[in-house]
Amino acid sequence: MIEYDPQRRIWLFSTPTTAYALGLDDDGTPRHVHWGRPLTLEQAAAVPRFRDPADSSFEHPRADRAELPVTGFGPSALQVRFPGGGQEIEWRYEGHAVDGGHLTILLRDRCHPLAVELHYRVHADVDVLERWTVLRHTGDGAPIELLRADSASWAVPHLAAYRLSHVTGAWGSEFRLRRDAAPGGETVLTSRRGVSGHHANPWVMIDDGAAGEEHGEVWSSALAWSGSWRITLHRSPAERLCWSGGFGHEGVTWRLEPGETLETPVFAGLYRPDGFGGTSRSWHAYIARHVLPAASESRPVLYNSWEATGWAVTEEGQKRLAGLAAEVGAELFVMDDGWFGARDSDEAGLGDWTPNPGKFPAGLDGLIAEVHRLGMRFGIWVEPEMVNPDSDLYRAHPDWVLRQPDRRRTLLRNQLVLDFGRPEVAAWAHDWLDRLVAGHAIDFLKWDMNRAFTEAGRPGTGDPGRVWIEHVRGVYEVMDRLRADHPRLRIEACAGGGGRVDLGVLRRTDEAWTSDNTDAVDRIAIQHGYGQIYPTRTMAAWVTDSPHFLTGRELPLRFRFHVAMAGVLGVGGDLSRWSAAERAEAAELVAIYKEIRPVVQHGVHHRLGEPPLTGAQYVADDRVVVLAWRLSSRFGAPPVPLRLRGLDPDARYRDDDTGAVHHGAVLLAHGLPLELPGTDHTSALVRLTRIA
Ligand code: DGJ
Repeated sequence: MIEYDPQRRIWLFSTPTTAYALGLDDDGTPRHVHWGRPLTLEQAAAVPRFRDPADSSFEHPRADRAELPVTGFGPSALQVRFPGGGQEIEWRYEGHAVDGGHLTILLRDRCHPLAVELHYRVHADVDVLERWTVLRHTGDGAPIELLRADSASWAVPHLAAYRLSHVTGAWGSEFRLRRDAAPGGETVLTSRRGVSGHHANPWVMIDDGAAGEEHGEVWSSALAWSGSWRITLHRSPAERLCWSGGFGHEGVTWRLEPGETLETPVFAGLYRPDGFGGTSRSWHAYIARHVLPAASESRPVLYNSWEATGWAVTEEGQKRLAGLAAEVGAELFVMDDGWFGARDSDEAGLGDWTPNPGKFPAGLDGLIAEVHRLGMRFGIWVEPEMVNPDSDLYRAHPDWVLRQPDRRRTLLRNQLVLDFGRPEVAAWAHDWLDRLVAGHAIDFLKWDMNRAFTEAGRPGTGDPGRVWIEHVRGVYEVMDRLRADHPRLRIEACAGGGGRVDLGVLRRTDEAWTSDNTDAVDRIAIQHGYGQIYPTRTMAAWVTDSPHFLTGRELPLRFRFHVAMAGVLGVGGDLSRWSAAERAEAAELVAIYKEIRPVVQHGVHHRLGEPPLTGAQYVADDRVVVLAWRLSSRFGAPPVPLRLRGLDPDARYRDDDTGAVHHGAVLLAHGLPLELPGTDHTSALVRLTRIA
């Protein structure tokens, strides 16, 4: 997978269908050579070493396409301040090491005690290249200030045009896909909120403006980090495009002490020649094979009590809901916020993680026993990183929160952020979570996080920038320890909906709460953006009440189910307000989901159609599942076929429900006949089996 030409000092990575090459220039600086279709080492050596023309005194002569740019007028991936104030870096190449698919290149500054390892790792079964860096202070004098420490920089070949795909959004409208021409100059995608964020998500895709769902070259990368982050794209005056990315936003610094190392998160890259669909499918395969801790499992159908009860939780009320949830076929019952401390609203109790004695006079065991008796697993909501000032925890440890000396603390949702970078805070969190999980045989934690960081600091520390990074590491460590000690425990990532979904959190969780917006019409767009990188098996999707609490929209139950079935199905409505007929229909649809679940959660995902008729198709071995959604109908509108993808044109496929037989070639070229009624918000679920 890794070849090296010592004469030309070029490394070539070969993944199943792509190649990546870099070389050392005369100066000892690693420079980008190739990222795209497969090449041999000989061909890689023949790639013209493009340099931006330095034909004016306003361009930098040594700035081109470094693997970790530190010089020039584009974004620097590494910015430092050495003791005494010096800032420029000049590399000396010290050697490299190859271990299977893992290459480490060792560099050292020519005169200051700073060593850098550039790490590259490929896997035999996916086209993703993982990159990160390790910075080391090798001296014994004063610290080195790291002003920016990106994980990697990526460059694409010259294209006639550059188009950027990414997602933006807000609470309740996460993952809105945007696909626009990449502007000249610099474009910054970032989160300054302490979490990966609702407002952006740490990934980018670049194409030449002509790629489509199934065709065209697409270069993409995604960062494995759950805190603040920054990706800076640079479209140079010579019309070349590269980008650099890593943890921390501007101003987040790290003082590297003598002997200390700082390892950056993985910033993974992927080239695909088969469009946005091929790109998404490759990311899904990578996440399933190399990121998720228990990807081979199927995620259970859960019931979550939040929309039904809010904070008005009682043991009897939860037991009633559990009974109804079991009736519709839920396999996991999750009690949400409101069960602990003085938590009757968002104003108090966060931090006091013992069952509220008024709501659970005899503790949680009665409810859990009932949930188990009903044949379901039990899950519970927690928000370990947060505290209400009105809590016993805060009264005992007001110094545990992130804060700036002499500054006001902004309350958001009446809460403050606990400093998980402090070992005693992380130890406290681990201790009560460990006791909660072990003491009650809890199967599932919904780990929530409901506010952005403000005034983040740790008075008394000489290095306040660290808190942004140490907090995330503290959260990761607590999750990792819990998982290691409780192998049956599964975790749902949540931050007020989809505010913390990234490759970093998915390494230690099993699914993610996609959005607090469960309106099925809005969800189609949210799920569309989510699925660009993240796989179906991680995308939690609940069916909730109609009219919807956020949008007021009324939608048929079947439509709501068909949209949620395109993810990890859950039910989050107030089942006590559903009629017996609705619950019976829900039970039927849940049963169908369980039957298609192996295909939906573990199959290959294809996006279908264009609004107003869109859908999702999943293929696993001989089975195909199609979910189709039509948002609106118009009298006289000609029927639009839903063309399927990824089928064998020479095979025939039988509809499991009607027995109708279709030719693969016809489904690909002319689409699947759907008998949708002529009203708005209609949907279909079709199950096909390949018969020859
Ligand atoms: C935000 C989550 O996204 C909701 O699902 C719910 O758990 C609330 N927090 C509870 O406070």
